[in-house]
Amino acid sequence: GAGVLASLTIMTSGALAQTIGFSQIGSESGWRAAETTLTRQQAEERGIDLKFADAQQKQENQIKALRSFIAQGVDAILLAPVVATGWDSVLEEAKEAEIPVVLLDRMVDSSKDLYLTAVGSDLVHEGEVAGQWLVDTVGDEQCNVVELQGTTGSSPAIDRKTGFENAIKGHDNIKITRSQTGDFTRTKGKEVMESFLKAEGGGGDICALYAHNDDMAVGAIQAIKEAGLKPGEDILVVSIDAVPDIFKAMAAGEANATVELTPNMAGPAFDALAAYMKDGTMPEKFIQTESKLYTQADDPQGEYDRRKDLGY
Ligand code: AHR
Repeated sequence: GAGVLASLTIMTSGALAQTIGFSQIGSESGWRAAETTLTRQQAEERGIDLKFADAQQKQENQIKALRSFIAQGVDAILLAPVVATGWDSVLEEAKEAEIPVVLLDRMVDSSKDLYLTAVGSDLVHEGEVAGQWLVDTVGDEQCNVVELQGTTGSSPAIDRKTGFENAIKGHDNIKITRSQTGDFTRTKGKEVMESFLKAEGGGGDICALYAHNDDMAVGAIQAIKEAGLKPGEDILVVSIDAVPDIFKAMAAGEANATVELTPNMAGPAFDALAAYMKDGTMPEKFIQTESKLYTQADDPQGEYDRRKDLGY
C-alpha cells in the first residue's frame, strides 16, 4: 500500500534501497546453511540491506525477531517458519504495519491474506518423488522402510511423510516399519538410525531408509557403516535436499537418490517484493520451485562440484 511505498528510500541513481528483515530458522542442516549464504548473496546483488536473525530453531525467537523488524520499520520481512502453527498474531501485526511478509521454504497454517506470497517447493510432491523412486527400484521385492522425520510440526516433516505414504500406497510389499524424528540434523539422524538398527536386531531386515533431509541421511549412513552394513546396497538410502555431501555419498555408492530443494528461495522472493513495491503488482500466492530427482546415474561428482562452485 501507500505506506509501504512511502517508506522506501529513493536513491539518487533511482534504485530502491530496501531494508529487509530475514528471520532464519537456524543452521540445522547443510541445506539451511546454503539458503542463508544464497539469501545474503541475492541481497547483496540487489543492494538490499538484509537484517539477519538466527532463531536457533525456536519459534519464540522468530516471533521476537519479527516484532523487532516491525518496530524498526523494515520495508519487508522474509520468514522461514520453523513450525506451521502459531503465527497469526505476529503476522497480523506485520499486516497492520503494512510490512509485506514473504514465507521461505516452509509454510504456515495462517490465513493466506496474512502474507504476500510464499516461495517453496511442493513438499508433498517431494515425498512422492522419493517414494516413487523406491517403488520403481524395489519392484515386487519385500521392503521394510525406516523413516527419519524432520522437525516435528514443521511443514516439510508433515508433507514429506504424507507424500511418501501416498507413493507407496497400494504397494503392499513396501512397509514403513519404524518412523521417528531426527530433527533435520546429522547428529540426531545418526542417533535415531542407531536405535533403529538395534531394535531391528542389527538391521538385516531393513531394506531402505527414507530420510526427510540429506543431513539425517548422512548421519544414518555413518550409523549403518558402524553396524557393519553397506549403505546404498544392504540398505537403500533416499532423501531430500540435494546438498553437496549427499552427492559425495552417492559418488561413493553409499546413498542412492535425493530430491532437490533449491536453496535459492530468496531470489524469487526479492523479485516478487521488488515488483510489489514498484507498482503494487501482486505476486502469485505460491511461487513454486522445482523438485528434481537425482540418482547415482546422474554424475554425482559433477553435481557435488557444481554446488561447491556456487558457494553451498
Ligand atoms: O524447510 C526445508 C528443510 O529444512 C530442508 O529440507 C532441511 O534440510 C532443512 O532443515
